Amino acid sequence: MDDLKAKYLGQIAEAADESALEAIRLAAVGKKGEVALKMRELGKMTPEERQVAGPALNALKDEINSALAAKKAALEDAALDARLRTEWLDVTLPSRPQRQGSLHPISQVQEEITAIFAELGFSVAEGPRIDTDWYNFDALNIPGHHPARAEMDTFYMHRAEGDDRPPHVLRTHTSPVQIRAMEKMGAPLRIICPGGVYRADYDQTHTPMFHQVEGLALDKDISMANLKWVLEEFVKSFFEVDDVELRFRASHFPFTEPSAEVDIRCSWQDGTLKIGEGDDWMEILGSGMVHPKVIAAGGIDPEVYQGFAFGIGIDRLAMLKYGIPDLRAFFDSDLRWLRHYGFRSLDVPALHGGLSR
Ligand code: PHE
Repeated sequence: MDDLKAKYLGQIAEAADESALEAIRLAAVGKKGEVALKMRELGKMTPEERQVAGPALNALKDEINSALAAKKAALEDAALDARLRTEWLDVTLPSRPQRQGSLHPISQVQEEITAIFAELGFSVAEGPRIDTDWYNFDALNIPGHHPARAEMDTFYMHRAEGDDRPPHVLRTHTSPVQIRAMEKMGAPLRIICPGGVYRADYDQTHTPMFHQVEGLALDKDISMANLKWVLEEFVKSFFEVDDVELRFRASHFPFTEPSAEVDIRCSWQDGTLKIGEGDDWMEILGSGMVHPKVIAAGGIDPEVYQGFAFGIGIDRLAMLKYGIPDLRAFFDSDLRWLRHYGFRSLDVPALHGGLSR
């Protein structure tokens, strides 16, 4: 019996895993195990011998069983320890610096523009991208026959057959928001409206959907000089420089009189776009003094109020500021491009902290 005990306790101590332990259990205390075989021998013994051997065998069986249970618990503990060691995680480490998502340069530039004009006292207005042709054209002094309708390569929405109402359009510019803002807020008024606009056009500097920011300031004593100052201040703040060269060109828009387009000096050398140098000019905005008919269409008396308006190409500004040579890349959704040109989403542009950092 001492041999049996030494043999099995030894094996149990050395068992490497639960299946080895189970094999030992069967061989020792299973129904056909060695202890059971010894129990059977009790029948052949004298009653005196049996009284000694019986309890001793039972004690051996108990001892082996509890050694098995203890070893099983120890193996489970060791397995848990090993797992905890491999699944260990230090929650106090800083999170991974790699950015998963980022702000598109157009969103970034939109935020930057909004921050600059907020400083100048302009609030943000919005309007629908699908609009009536009254807001997009008529109210802006572009009547039905006007060539500007064709020039803008307008997308018209489909109307059901037999429906004679004029079609809705995808707005070709943000100017319809001028009318909506005047209707809603009256004068005096100082708003900008950033947003998407649509024209059927496609090349390196034109895409069928692009972005503008409209500006409108109405009051009793506003002149072209105010317009020029505001635009110069804006461009300097936006490009974060003391001087950029602007060119004001006399132009024509049905909704402003007089009108001026503004170009910015730039160069396109070796496929890189740079501002403030070179012999090229990139048109970035249209502007002028709001036409009296437009002010009247907005429900305001043009004898009392005048003002200026402008429409800036946001995508153009983004290309110039961040040296992006092809406008079409903005809308390709190429992840590598987005990772390269994207902005950290938590860095909110503000004039005091630096617009773009
Ligand atoms: N709406 C004009 C355009 O899309 C820009 C503009 C806005 C011009 C306001 C003058 C005044 O080209």
